[in-house]
Amino acid sequence: MAFGPIMRFKVSGLEIELAPVTREVLGEFVNPGMQQHSITQYIGMDSAPVIETEQEWYDKTRSAKDSLIWGIWLLEDGGRTIIGNSALEHIERGHVHQAVSGSMIFRQEYWGKGIASAAHKARTLYAFEQLGLHRIKSAVIQANGGSRKALERSGYNLVYTEHNTVFVNGQLRHQDNLECLNPNEPFWSQWFHGERPTKAQREARQRTLEALKWAHSNVELP
Ligand SMILES: CC(C)(COP(=O)(O)OP(=O)(O)OC[C@H]1O[C@@H](n2cnc3c(N)ncnc32)[C@H](O)[C@@H]1OP(=O)(O)O)[C@@H](O)C(=O)NCCC(=O)NCCS
Repeated sequence: MAFGPIMRFKVSGLEIELAPVTREVLGEFVNPGMQQHSITQYIGMDSAPVIETEQEWYDKTRSAKDSLIWGIWLLEDGGRTIIGNSALEHIERGHVHQAVSGSMIFRQEYWGKGIASAAHKARTLYAFEQLGLHRIKSAVIQANGGSRKALERSGYNLVYTEHNTVFVNGQLRHQDNLECLNPNEPFWSQWFHGERPTKAQREARQRTLEALKWAHSNVELP
């Protein structure tokens, strides 16, 4: 576990690699990364991390048994630059197999280019077809419209809304709890065991199948 294996894809003309984070780039996560309010406002961080915070995180992550973390790297001019991360955490293999996903692109100049949406699709492919998970859960603060859109586009669906989970930028905010269900058999039938999925769940299944189709054609898993 700990760090996820390399996956590569192209999006908006950019070459992206999902690959383990290295100790050398931890400073990037701090600055320009998570010392900026614009990056952390919707991920439940009130304080700014320093390099020691990230070093502790790195050591913990390296030996974590229940998470897989990928750095999001931009490949250019023969080198690579770290711009964010993508994660599957709290991986459980009980009666159902599931995990909680999270993402961050800390270089804002790369927002809105479809990188998170594509990374979600690659991660979903790995979660469903390599880890055999039934579901991936994700929580989004409602004001975080970009995140919500990227998740929905890759097959996530609203399960329920929790009111007033955080206070950000002068007001209380609601949190949408989403899930992405494995659309493949036997996982789909195991999840519903004879119950009829709702229309929203059937539509989300189609979006997830589309996401997996995109990932099969566009994601290289060397
Ligand atoms: C959330 C985040 C990962 C999205 O990354 P991204 O690469 O910009 O996402 P994508 O480009 O794949 O998709 C975002 C979509 O939402 C749209 N969008 C952006 N801001 C929006 C808003 N406020 N409301 C609605 N849609 C919005 C974008 O235009 C884009 O849609 P389009 O492709 O149709 O134009 C990135 O903004 C980020 O790292 N934010 C800080 C950390 C964070 O909040 N993480 C998520 C926690 S749940």
